[in-house]
Amino acid sequence: MKISQKEEFNERLLSWYHQEKRDLPWRRTSNPYYIWVSEVMLQQTRVDTVIPYYERFIESFPTMESLAEAEEEHVLKHWEGLGYYSRVRNLQAGVKEVVESYDSKIPQTRNEILKLKGIGPYTAGAVLSIAYGVPEHAVDGNVMRVFSRLFLIEEDIAIPKTKKVFEQRVMEVIDETDPSSFNQAIMELGATICTPNPRCLLCPVREFCAAFEEGKQDELPVKTKKMKKKVVTIRSFAISEPGGKWLLRKRPSNGLLGDFWEFPQIEDSPALEISESLKNETGLLIEQRQAYTQFKHIFSHVTWLVEGVHAVLLDASPIPEGYRFFSEEELELLPKSKPMSKLLEQLKK
Ligand code: ADE
Repeated sequence: MKISQKEEFNERLLSWYHQEKRDLPWRRTSNPYYIWVSEVMLQQTRVDTVIPYYERFIESFPTMESLAEAEEEHVLKHWEGLGYYSRVRNLQAGVKEVVESYDSKIPQTRNEILKLKGIGPYTAGAVLSIAYGVPEHAVDGNVMRVFSRLFLIEEDIAIPKTKKVFEQRVMEVIDETDPSSFNQAIMELGATICTPNPRCLLCPVREFCAAFEEGKQDELPVKTKKMKKKVVTIRSFAISEPGGKWLLRKRPSNGLLGDFWEFPQIEDSPALEISESLKNETGLLIEQRQAYTQFKHIFSHVTWLVEGVHAVLLDASPIPEGYRFFSEEELELLPKSKPMSKLLEQLKK
């Protein structure tokens, strides 16, 4: 696409968007806080998955004050299953800052809003444009795919600094009269038409697309292969006391699945006996019984091969710090990771 075609391009893009846009709950509001919540949820998560989470979250935390005051475990419970849990911790921290330091008004400039916890360049642009109509770029992977084709940009999108190239391009073509619809239209195009296998024949802006003109749409965007992910075997121990309560421990606050409760577990270590390494790591002396499940769980940077094993505690005293017994009813209320929920589900079978 040539910059001289900007007006025609925007006319075509926006009229397509107004006709075809999906009816999504965050498109029925102009509340900047709700738009912030939706944009955080939509990072790394599909629209269909997000919808029920978004509705439940807004119902439970209808104002920034209500989220700021909520218990972290209660908030995490609303995110259970969405993954990337630091997103919601940062969201709550950012909202607290707005309530405490900005009189509950989300800042309206990129510089100010970027100071908030959890708001990066993408979320900043999305909230500013969608909630306040400020002409700001909101570039994520989908937007890079669309723009790499429109402008035949062949730079590697796996390299972080390439994003700047796209942000600049967006600022050159963004519709200043309706930046909210512009950014959402590009997202919509990326989600429904300019997908990894693009459906160019349905595209409203095909005639502006440099990649389509050269037949290169399937070669774009250029993205170098990711490094192979680490795979670890996790052995998880289901230990119950005679009253039927289960022994769990809380994960450390920082790192993967921070603050989530889980069964005691270890990364399999070939060098040591399993029970010995559990004893070394936790002080728990156990005897393993039969395995009850085995499955794979893929996180963004690591894959877990999870083995769930029944075990009995040989020496119940003292229970190390950070460990606690929970009844099944109490367990229901705790925030749990996907693998932990799956282990519990398998145990109940
Ligand atoms: N993906 C990221 N933000 C979105 C939005 N506001 N609507 C639809 N999909 C999105």
